[in-house]
Amino acid sequence: MSENSKKNDSAGLMEKIVSLCKRRGFVYPSSEIYSGFAGVYDYGPMGVELENNLKAHWWKWMVHKRQDIVGLDSSIFMNPQIWEASGHTKGFFDPMVECKECNARIRADKMLEDIGVKADEKMPEEKLNGLFQENEQKIKCPKCGKRNFTKVKKFNLLVKSNLGDFTDSNMAPSYLRGETCQGIYVNFKNVVDSQHVKVPFGIAQIGKAFRNEISPRQFLFRGREFEQMEMQYFTRPEEEMSEYEKLKEYRWKAILSLGFDESNLRWKKHDNLVFYAKEAYDVEYNFPWGFDEMEGIHARGNYDLTQHSKGSGKDLSYHDSETNEKFIPHIVESSGGVGRLFFAIMCDAYKEDELGGETRVYLKLKPSLAPVKAAVFPLLKNKPELVSKAKEVFDMLNEEIQPMVFDDNGNIGKRYRRQDEIGTPYCITVDFDSLEKNDVTVRDRDTGKQERVSIADIGARIKGAISL
Ligand code: GAP
Repeated sequence: MSENSKKNDSAGLMEKIVSLCKRRGFVYPSSEIYSGFAGVYDYGPMGVELENNLKAHWWKWMVHKRQDIVGLDSSIFMNPQIWEASGHTKGFFDPMVECKECNARIRADKMLEDIGVKADEKMPEEKLNGLFQENEQKIKCPKCGKRNFTKVKKFNLLVKSNLGDFTDSNMAPSYLRGETCQGIYVNFKNVVDSQHVKVPFGIAQIGKAFRNEISPRQFLFRGREFEQMEMQYFTRPEEEMSEYEKLKEYRWKAILSLGFDESNLRWKKHDNLVFYAKEAYDVEYNFPWGFDEMEGIHARGNYDLTQHSKGSGKDLSYHDSETNEKFIPHIVESSGGVGRLFFAIMCDAYKEDELGGETRVYLKLKPSLAPVKAAVFPLLKNKPELVSKAKEVFDMLNEEIQPMVFDDNGNIGKRYRRQDEIGTPYCITVDFDSLEKNDVTVRDRDTGKQERVSIADIGARIKGAISL
């Protein structure tokens, strides 16, 4: 059996994955029966299982395995002053141009990148305008193909709401959070005062974030509503960079333990740092269009707690009771999107091969991540003795292994294909021999090979392979 090289046909791979996600209940476009809603997706029955497994894996690595990191679940809405202090109301922008012919709004930096000009969203407006004008002859509107654009304008990404405004007045808006870490910074003092934490320590959180992305694109890669997994690690000033190196190493190990092909991952150092940052690296994944950011590891200095000290008027410095020193902790963070990781895992796991003379598609997911851990089939649907034995096996295993499916629909080949496409690692078939010998066939998803295993032994065997 030979695996095709998926990167030979990168545009096709994207389409295949989006189609598989819909067909097998991983991801649906939001509000589809109302013609959709740009930049928003819904996770279906299989998707929510995979998504939960990814989040559980992150939580295990970032909280449960660590004595020095605690969890948090802060609210989406926060006092709007937080976004002033953090700099988001004045400095959280994407550069946009509008096509004067068809009114399409497009990210200026991405259009420049598409024609090979180095640009990013952090560049000042004037610089982007200069680059855009220099290259205008080469740039076409992706929607109508014409060349007639407005000047580059920066557009704030914060999503506004009218929460608490019942008067239709001009009350200042409250925002849906643009990143989860602000909820961590503003709870720093609460955590220090209520837990036995000592610097260095971290606070981790998983939650929704919202950004008014001008051009949401590439499926789950850039949406307007998405989930982040962020960990903020509070350090002594002089230890910031050594803790940063440790965090980089730890995240690499954690990401690899998801079963990625290491050759599809790489580090990328940021060229343009925000003024307060000491260093920033992205972990990039080799998406169908090439390497791109999956998560970021950033050394942020003491900017965040300093800003919130100033903004709130509360002292957010830390008192080290052993050395009697007082200082504003520096922060190193790891910040990743659940959707981006989900998409990267789908790209990595998607395989096509030939089995029994037919092309098949399967997801080579690590068993611990698979949405369904095992499927039980009676060989034939119309043989009550097989069906009842298969149900018995299913009930016995399902006590210890979840989620599982029982499937007697269609011929056995079709049932295997269905499970292959959702990445189910084990298919267990009850046949006539099972009735006499109390054993079953267990089929391995990746090789398609079947093996007879005693019913008494399958539970332990599968359980060993599926723990996170
Ligand atoms: N607190 C730092 C922060 O939010 P970021 O680079 O803006 O940094 C971190 O975002 C991660 O969040 C990204 O690496 C990506 O995985 C995810 N992310 C950011 N914007 C996203 C979007 N529009 N859609 C999906 N994921 C996004």
